[in-house]
Amino acid sequence: MADALKISPSILSADFSKLGDEVRAIDEAGCDYVHIDVMDGHFVPNLTFGPPVIRNIRPVTEKGFDVHLMINPAQPHLSDYAEAGADIITVHVEADADLDRSLQMIRGLGKKAGVSLNPSTPETAIEHVIDKVDLILVMTVNPGFSGQSFIASQVEKIRRIKAMIGDRSIEIEVDGGINADNVKTVTEAGANVVVAGNAVFSGDDYAAAIGALRDAAG
Ligand code: DX5
Ligand code: ZN
Repeated sequence: MADALKISPSILSADFSKLGDEVRAIDEAGCDYVHIDVMDGHFVPNLTFGPPVIRNIRPVTEKGFDVHLMINPAQPHLSDYAEAGADIITVHVEADADLDRSLQMIRGLGKKAGVSLNPSTPETAIEHVIDKVDLILVMTVNPGFSGQSFIASQVEKIRRIKAMIGDRSIEIEVDGGINADNVKTVTEAGANVVVAGNAVFSGDDYAAAIGALRDAAG
């Protein structure tokens, strides 16, 4: 049976001048997770926020914090993100020379371990850690910015990852350029968590935007 679709709005598209209110608003609008894009200006050409900001918004909601680390190295900072309030910590395969150990560390901190792949990275890069992950994050844009266009070639990769997972209890999350027009293609391929930045935050009615994604996914 397919898992129920989860929506993880990316606060990278929120109004940072009122970040707590924005997190409260997506909670009340019915999101499942809060997607938090951590960028270091080195692994990706953009710089966002780190543990202090996460710690500050943690009391605002009980929804799971889905922390997407686009930083290199990530390993020395994993405990900081766990302590700041992350529930899922996702590291990039491209940024981690010792992926296996990072994933074990995340689980050792009592958090769910995620691994992410850039569009150019084949799914074979994570075969060796498949039994050590709780979530696989498939990038459908090159990471760094919200509001980019969905890269359709990744749909087949999602399908192959779904097959690779088999009976394991692993979530497949898709991130980048998702909207009501393309969400069904990724859920049909096997994704059960979708990140939505612009699709949620570009309008005034976050509940309607989240509802539109759920309706479109069917
Ligand atoms: C890109 C980030 C995404 C992005 C999603 O590097 O990982 O989470 O903010 O934003 P949209 O949905 O607007 O592409
Ligand atoms: Zn992200």
